Amino acid sequence: MSALPWWKTAVVYQIYPRSFADANGDGVGEIEGVRQHLDHLSWLGVDAIWLSPIFRSPMRDFGYDVADYCDIDPVFGTLADVDALIADAHGRGIRVLLDWVPAHTSSDHPWFVESRSSRLSPKRDWYVWRDPDSDGTVPNNWQRPWPRGGAAWTFDEATGQYWLHSFLPDQPDLNWENPDVVRAMHETLRFWLDRGVDGFRADVVHNIGKDPALKDAPAAAAHVPHCALNHDPRTIDHLRGIRSLLDAYPGERMMVGEVFLMDTSKIPPYYADGEGLHLAFNFPPMFLPWKSESWRGCLEQVQAEFDAIDAWPTWVLSNHDWPRHRTRLGNEPRARAAAMLLLTVRGTPFLYMGEELGLEDAVVPPERAVDPGGRDGCRAPMPWTTSRGHGWPDPAWLPFPPKAGARSVEAEREDPGSMLHLYRRLLQLRRESSALRGGALALLDDVPPGVLAYRRTTPDDERLVAINFEEHEVATASLTGLVEMSTDGRGEGAPFVGRLGADQAVVLRP
Ligand code: NOJ
Repeated sequence: MSALPWWKTAVVYQIYPRSFADANGDGVGEIEGVRQHLDHLSWLGVDAIWLSPIFRSPMRDFGYDVADYCDIDPVFGTLADVDALIADAHGRGIRVLLDWVPAHTSSDHPWFVESRSSRLSPKRDWYVWRDPDSDGTVPNNWQRPWPRGGAAWTFDEATGQYWLHSFLPDQPDLNWENPDVVRAMHETLRFWLDRGVDGFRADVVHNIGKDPALKDAPAAAAHVPHCALNHDPRTIDHLRGIRSLLDAYPGERMMVGEVFLMDTSKIPPYYADGEGLHLAFNFPPMFLPWKSESWRGCLEQVQAEFDAIDAWPTWVLSNHDWPRHRTRLGNEPRARAAAMLLLTVRGTPFLYMGEELGLEDAVVPPERAVDPGGRDGCRAPMPWTTSRGHGWPDPAWLPFPPKAGARSVEAEREDPGSMLHLYRRLLQLRRESSALRGGALALLDDVPPGVLAYRRTTPDDERLVAINFEEHEVATASLTGLVEMSTDGRGEGAPFVGRLGADQAVVLRP
């Protein structure tokens, strides 16, 4: 197999910096906390980290509202802290991706302050301003997701026009149809590439290109937030420009784009046949029922639509926006089977900090809720130790997930049967198997209902993966091989017995 670029074989680990580790004891995690816990990531075996936004921000959307793309928010540290993190991560062979938020800025960004100051401002056109509709109301029917939905427009009394904000009013959409915006945003990428980052996760990147006609959403979708509908060919053109910028740098810099469209068929165009995004998130699988038929259909679709145009898929079960998969799936055996699926299908897996501990969402009482989008539960702090505070001052900025002591890094490292060890072993297995890292995937037909099985192959390596989605034992006589890994540890090192236990998944070697 010819050498694949790193981002095709890597396992990427998402860090939500506020909640990863707190080095300065203020109850909020920061960059230095990440640097001090690189040991955990090396030991786990991840290849890259992606840090959710650390840029200067008023934090109305916890950093997804950027007020300066080229500086670090004091809550997280300094530019020197990022330099130190990049150097130390690279020293351990771990790449670093930053979260770049190109579709909107904070309303506190000097560009917006200037844009809002007057209709004649040279930066007026850097954002999307429109006159009221003929009836004096919002220019179109676009909706924002939160808080509690509502129009994606806010009226500016002083200048008599509405500004577009696909999210909070404090997050005005940039106008990428203005070449000065494109140039300015390219500069922000160069700033970080010159500092040595390996690439970016691009926030709602499908939302940068818009038809200037800003037509109403179709009536049937009028209730859907526009950020989940926007799908315009202008975005692909912008992505081509970004790709050339990245590819001009040495060292395989990359971009993984958040394309938040709930239709897998719409994702491959964002790769633009190797001239657009290197990778794009494909979120529909995150919302699939835990059923073998659903996952089989999903893998078939990805094979048909991504492989056909040589677009390398990505896989994600959890992130900072949705309930964790351990919470969604309801029990640990299933979460273990899901981890084996995530880490053995063809494509680049993204882990969300704490999933390696089997963390569930925290229960956040209303008086401690802080996120306008109601996403605090999955953003709870990582428990590091079994002792009180779990490595954080009391109280940390959010409450801990359930069973934080038993699910702390300290406790799980000591238990070879823990979720943490399962993840570590799966990562090790991927490293050692070219078939799992980059091989072809063939779904097996001769398996009973409730079981998903696939073979991963390269010319000199092969693995077979079988997952039981049922809560009872299932006979799988057609599957043979040596059990290399089992999600419940049963049968490892012995020939497969032809039965999968409830919720069990295995990797077999021929
Ligand atoms: C997607 C991010 O993942 C989410 O956290 C954020 O609120 C929105 N984009 C707006 O930037």
